[in-house]
Amino acid sequence: MTLDALRSSALGCTACALSSRRNNVVFGEGDPHSPLVLVGEGPGDNEDRTGRPFVGRAGQLLDKALVEAGLSRETVYICNTVKCRAADWSTGKPQNRPPTEEETSTCRQWLIPQLELIAPKVILCVGAPSAKNLIRKNFAITKERGLYHECAYAKTAIATLHPSYILRQQRPDNDGGFSLLVADIQKAWDTAIRLREKMG
Ligand code: URA
Ligand code: SF4
Repeated sequence: MTLDALRSSALGCTACALSSRRNNVVFGEGDPHSPLVLVGEGPGDNEDRTGRPFVGRAGQLLDKALVEAGLSRETVYICNTVKCRAADWSTGKPQNRPPTEEETSTCRQWLIPQLELIAPKVILCVGAPSAKNLIRKNFAITKERGLYHECAYAKTAIATLHPSYILRQQRPDNDGGFSLLVADIQKAWDTAIRLREKMG
C-alpha cells in the first residue's frame, strides 16, 4: 500500500455519518518523508471546500507559527484526526464541532495506516481531540502540552494548543498561547531532526 493508494481509497469513504454532508475528504498534504507529522482535529468549512488541511483562519495562524519556528507547510506533513468536516447542522447555519468518539475511532482506519506509511519520528498532536486519540484518552492538553509522550505511531509525540483555541483566547495584551504553539513546534522539529540523525 502506498500513501497515494490510501488517499484514493479514503476519498470514497462512507464509513461514518460525516460522509453525508461533506464536499471533500481532507486526507492530508506536505512532505510524506518529513520526520514530523502534525495531526489536527478535523476539517472546517474552508478545508471542506478545498480538500486541503488548515487553510482557514486557524490554518493561517498555524502557517505563521510554522514560519516563526523556522519551518513551512512544505517541510512537514499535515493531516487530521477525522478527514471529513464535523458540524452541527440543526440551526441551518453549520457550526463546527469536535468529532465524536465514534467518528474518531471510525476514521482511524485512514489515520493509522497514514501514520504507519509516513513513519514519522515525531507526531505533534494539534489540539486535545488529536492528543486523546493518539496519546491517551484522558489527555489534559493545558497541563501536558509541550512534553514528550509515548505513542505507538512515532518515536515520541508532543501535543500543543489548537490554533482555533488560540484565536478565541487572543486579546490585545495576550497572545492567547501563540508563543507556546511556536515553542512546541520548534521542540517537535528539533526532536525529529535529532532522532533522524541518530537513527537514520
Ligand atoms: N482545524 C483543524 O483541526 N484542522 C484543519 O484542517 C483546519 C482547522
Ligand atoms: Fe470516512 Fe473518516 Fe470521512 Fe468518516 S470522517 S466518512 S471515517 S473519511
